[in-house]
Amino acid sequence: MSKFFAVIPAAGSGSRMGNSLPKQYLALAGRPMIYHAVHTLCVSPEIANVFVILSPEDREWLKYDWSEFSSKLVVFNCGGETRATSILNGLKAASEKSLIGNEDWVMVHDAARPCLSKELLKKLLDELSDDEVGGLLAVPLSDTLKRGGTNNRVQKTEPRKDLWQAQTPQMFRYKLLLDALCKPDSITMTDDASAVEALGLCPKLVLGDVSNIKITYPKDLVLAELILRAQNGESYDKQD
Ligand code: CTP
Ligand code: MG
Repeated sequence: MSKFFAVIPAAGSGSRMGNSLPKQYLALAGRPMIYHAVHTLCVSPEIANVFVILSPEDREWLKYDWSEFSSKLVVFNCGGETRATSILNGLKAASEKSLIGNEDWVMVHDAARPCLSKELLKKLLDELSDDEVGGLLAVPLSDTLKRGGTNNRVQKTEPRKDLWQAQTPQMFRYKLLLDALCKPDSITMTDDASAVEALGLCPKLVLGDVSNIKITYPKDLVLAELILRAQNGESYDKQD
């Protein structure tokens, strides 16, 4: 039986956030941002282990108490220059410790997406666990798309049919994801599905939710706080 594992890349600096503290540690609903993703994945009964990939220079993680997650949470200080390198290093580290096998499923989820709900996580798992390739949460584009040109003048209106916004988690079998991320071109890719697509495969799009936002700029924190408050019934204390 294949097992399910989660990988949380958290070795970025959050440069677009413009804060000297890496964004995964910024305060959000009374916790460091990364706590929310760690909690949602660790309380999932289907997931065997949650691997967090930190920068070797990380000075923040140990300032917090993670003991509530006991040995289900495994931390590797092996982050790399890019998101893809961090994940690749984390996959190799998990394998070296004999924690994961080739046919096991890996769900990669960004530390910067704190609003993933338990329901959405379960939906992804259910829809993909028999899939040949794997896939990702995504939402169809709803806005009209404009291509901008000089001085922000519209050059063209682009058709939005069949266009989706990729989210995480993205879920692939260990060996496939490892092979995909090992390719030199994958190093700069900003999601895992792109690397799998480059192997000629077609990951499945699983309908996600707009509430599963990624925190990139300071204003995103305000929205995330509201979403978490709504999900937790106004209480900031996460319930199992
Ligand atoms: N990430 C990582 N290793 C890197 C770069 C990014 O593990 N070398 C992680 C981030 O910590 C984040 C996720 O990948 O959880 C998505 O990346 P992004 O949102 O781009 O975060 P940052 O790279 O930290 O932000 P920025 O691009 O603004 O610098
Ligand atoms: Mg980045």
